[in-house]
Amino acid sequence: MKTVQEIVMQQTFSRDDLVVLLNTEGEERTQLFSVAAARKEDVVGRKVFFRGLIEFSNICSKDCLYCGIRKSNDKVVRYDATDEEILEACRFAWQNRFGSVVLQSGELSSPVFVERVDGLLKAIKKLSNGELGITLSCGEQSRETYRRWFESGAHRYLLRIESSTPELYAKIHPNNDHHSFEKRLNCLSLLKECGYQVGTGVMIGLPFQTLENLADDLLFLKKIDVDMVGMGPYIEHEETPLYEHRYLLKSKQERFDLALKMVAALRLLLPDINIAAATALQAIDPAGREKALKIGANVIMPNLTPCSYRKEYQLYEDKPCLDEDADLCKNCLEARIELAGSEIGYGEWGDSRHFFSRGNRPK
Ligand code: 5AD
Ligand code: FES
Repeated sequence: MKTVQEIVMQQTFSRDDLVVLLNTEGEERTQLFSVAAARKEDVVGRKVFFRGLIEFSNICSKDCLYCGIRKSNDKVVRYDATDEEILEACRFAWQNRFGSVVLQSGELSSPVFVERVDGLLKAIKKLSNGELGITLSCGEQSRETYRRWFESGAHRYLLRIESSTPELYAKIHPNNDHHSFEKRLNCLSLLKECGYQVGTGVMIGLPFQTLENLADDLLFLKKIDVDMVGMGPYIEHEETPLYEHRYLLKSKQERFDLALKMVAALRLLLPDINIAAATALQAIDPAGREKALKIGANVIMPNLTPCSYRKEYQLYEDKPCLDEDADLCKNCLEARIELAGSEIGYGEWGDSRHFFSRGNRPK
């Protein structure tokens, strides 16, 4: 059998190799982390890029079995930030030289919603003289909608596949047309076709999930040739159906450790992509995101959602930064990133190198 030392030096990885990496502990895990950290520095450098995250609405038409803002959770107070509040958060990001913002919401596809996002994109470009990069994370949409939003200024899109194993996907979503694995997969190709830098990701430590499933997730990310990945630990939420399976879960610490190993293995597998340090890591370990930045991640998404709404965007329990305001969060992040030994790419878009290596030009 191959040793971890041999595997981390490879350029390509089999499913079995990846399972070995995900199983590492002690010395071997340290070795995986240090090789991944070195690979990151060689290929994408030491810089960490900021994306100011604006969770502008928690109104959602979907009922994912793991998500705290699912449509059927009637304990959530639904909100829709005003355009002015959203633009104010963007102005803050621009003035503080964040480089980019991410507009995230529950999933809606009504003409009113599509039109509204379109108007916001144009307004954000205008207020920042075209300088703020914009990532959207607004779920599954039609080709026309994706195209329209791209033309209005969005250049990256995040749509997590959640699990690339169709059987597992089916266990964590309602079994109907509105929650179809195939449709979600198709959306990822539509996004690429429209010219976006495409980001996806999975949850780690789900009930019923095996290390083989996670190895397949990594291979899936390679197969679809992603530009960006955000992936973090699954964290149970009491007001969701998946909560009943909490007895099947690994401990939170184990899920956290596994998420870090996934990040490190991904950096080895796809060295030139952007990898976000997921907020969910911080829900388990206060220094969780910084730990991910040390061993392979290079993007962080400070929360710029207006404070009064934050407690209603609880996708999972213990979501951090519920009562910070944007200013405080930024200070806190700077100090933390220094601790992690990285520099910050102020005012830079920090686009995925991979996107350009697959033949695209800067927007
Ligand atoms: N635990 C961890 N991550 C979650 N997400 C949603 N619910 C949870 C949860 N309970 C993640 C999903 C989604 C992203 C916005 O948040 O991966 O795509
Ligand atoms: Fe808000 Fe740290 S980023 S508390």
